[in-house]
Amino acid sequence: KSQANGSGNPRDFVAKMKETKKRIVIFYGSQTGTAEEYAIRLAKEAKQKFGLASLVCDAEDYDYDNLDQVPEDCAVIFCMATYGEGEPTDNAVQLTQNIADDSFEFTNGSHRLEGLKYVIFGLGNKTYEHYNAIARNMDNQLTAMGAVRIGERGEGDDDKSMEEDYLEWKDGMWEAFATALGVEEGQGGDSPDFVVTELDSHAPEKVYQGELSARALTKTKGIHDAKNPYPAPITAARELFALDGERNCVHIEISIEGSGIAYQHGDHVGVWPSNSDVEVERLLCALGMHDKRDAVIGIESLDPALAKVPFPVPTTYATVLRHYIDISAVTGRQILGVLSKFAPSPEAQAFMTRLNTDKEEYGRTVHNGCLKLGEVLQIAAGNDIHVKPTPENTTAWAIPFDIIVSSIPRLQPRYYSISSSPKLNPGSIHITAVVLKYESIASEKVKQRWVYGVGSNFLLNLKFAANKENAPLLARPGDELPAHVTHPTYAIEGPRGAYQIEGIYKVPVHVRRSTFRLPTNPKTPVIMIGPGTGVAPFRGFIQERVALARRTVEKNGAEALADWGNLWLFYGCRKSNEDFLYKDEWPEYAKELNGKFKMFSAISREPPYKPDGSKIYVQDLIWEQREGISEAILKGKAYIYICGDAKSMSKSVEDCLQRMLGEAKGGSAEVEGAAEMKLLKERSRLMLDVWS
Ligand code: 2AM
Repeated sequence: KSQANGSGNPRDFVAKMKETKKRIVIFYGSQTGTAEEYAIRLAKEAKQKFGLASLVCDAEDYDYDNLDQVPEDCAVIFCMATYGEGEPTDNAVQLTQNIADDSFEFTNGSHRLEGLKYVIFGLGNKTYEHYNAIARNMDNQLTAMGAVRIGERGEGDDDKSMEEDYLEWKDGMWEAFATALGVEEGQGGDSPDFVVTELDSHAPEKVYQGELSARALTKTKGIHDAKNPYPAPITAARELFALDGERNCVHIEISIEGSGIAYQHGDHVGVWPSNSDVEVERLLCALGMHDKRDAVIGIESLDPALAKVPFPVPTTYATVLRHYIDISAVTGRQILGVLSKFAPSPEAQAFMTRLNTDKEEYGRTVHNGCLKLGEVLQIAAGNDIHVKPTPENTTAWAIPFDIIVSSIPRLQPRYYSISSSPKLNPGSIHITAVVLKYESIASEKVKQRWVYGVGSNFLLNLKFAANKENAPLLARPGDELPAHVTHPTYAIEGPRGAYQIEGIYKVPVHVRRSTFRLPTNPKTPVIMIGPGTGVAPFRGFIQERVALARRTVEKNGAEALADWGNLWLFYGCRKSNEDFLYKDEWPEYAKELNGKFKMFSAISREPPYKPDGSKIYVQDLIWEQREGISEAILKGKAYIYICGDAKSMSKSVEDCLQRMLGEAKGGSAEVEGAAEMKLLKERSRLMLDVWS
């Protein structure tokens, strides 16, 4: 029904497959881009292994009424993420509904998909209850409709082992795929995705040096969102605590004045980090491009449908490594196989191949050692990773840059729960972040050392950078870099320092809306549970109420707060004089809230302990206060918020609430308690902002 050149219905994927002679269509249901990445990887593998080109599709862009019309020698691959409480991603709502809905008719007039060959890979997170629900449901429904699955259903756990789950699944699937489609391995070949060209003549103002959008480059006004983050000046930065160099927590304030960005308490801020100097240098040396670091390059995609150039161009080699691709992550196993072909010596090649094929060896060396790509290349070539990398001490590999671009994922923003209220801090966003730091496990080739999370460590480094240099707005000027900060970010020594403008440090940010909000009526009681940095959004909540209290008292006097609901905050930390966040602020807020603010702190590593000697946690304090809280929930229609660790804290707290409510209703946790919890969630009176 469609003609050449893509005319006809643009939502008809079958027509598009036929036009472009593609035997595979891959639909992805993706929220943050991970499922899309895996979809693209599957497409690339099909091409490399069998020489088969795929149509990679955002699930939202197509209709499914002719899913029954996929030709017999073709296959459909679904790469489906499960979001939140077992929901499809926004872009896969129509697809999942069409499949699930028995009354939805395909062009054959029925809800049958007899003989349709499909592959399914699900992306989920085991810390959530409905693990991979979308892929599992779709798989069951498709089979019930007469479709035939190729290979096993793949399931990846984003909490722990996504990459390994994928690798373990895909080989068996491709074998089954070859049989199902009657194709043979080895018909493909390594065809590049991109062409990288060095440009001789170029206008310097058109070269991207870390800017994330065209509007940022040309400095034109426009809305700031994830596609066009705002370079926000850092107006304050301090360390809330630093425990023997083991755990740090930073408080950063950024200005959004004049940016047009608005936020509310409970929203998240996305911070776009950049890679550290040392990793950029290391990779430049290992790729043998130290001399051409600032050469201007253009990059073009050879198959835009399969692979979009993942960042703005023209740019420079160094900029790509610093701002656009994630060279700080622990290296994946698969890329080692790809890169082994470019090894500078047979020994280096053998080392790479062994890491690629021997899972145990990979685990021992790369995973345990938390090795980044540059470090693996150095170790493979026999270089010392513990010294400052230079072209002299680092062996150069002849890896084409297009391979780097296509095999390393793009650097993603890190999200933090905003810890301020715009009503108390107009024009300013506060971030409270623990600096992630891991102790790597030593192996034959690598010593034990500290490894830092790229996002929060970027913030910590910004703090040191900002406080050290001429930045009059910042707290604690003159800070020296402490010994445990092994590498300052570019902010100190970067060439153009994309974000160091007129001595003020800037960090690209955007705001992501959330539903984590206070009830509008201050008479409604509020119960907040947030140990550790889980307290961040609640600082914003309390500030929001303080701002309202000020206005109310000014207008109607202090008595006007008398009928306000209680604000209960359950907080936890290790020691009262070490990691107690914003310790001096809470009493101030309490004063202004005139007795309505009730804070309970579980200090876990200080007496008193429980009679059996175990630690006191937030859930224990909730249990102690159960009478008042149950009444607030059951009679006062209180709102409950939990923020922080998803794995054990939020589960323990939910269990505790369930027991408490069961008891208050004169029944059991399992029946009455569970029913009340369900109701609270349905009514959005129990909300979670948790992370793992
Ligand atoms: P711990 O580290 O002494 O075990 C912030 O990290 C606070 O949360 C710390 O006091 C920490 O105690 C505590 N915490 C750790 N695990 C927890 C859990 N499962 N439930 C509640 N609090 C927990």
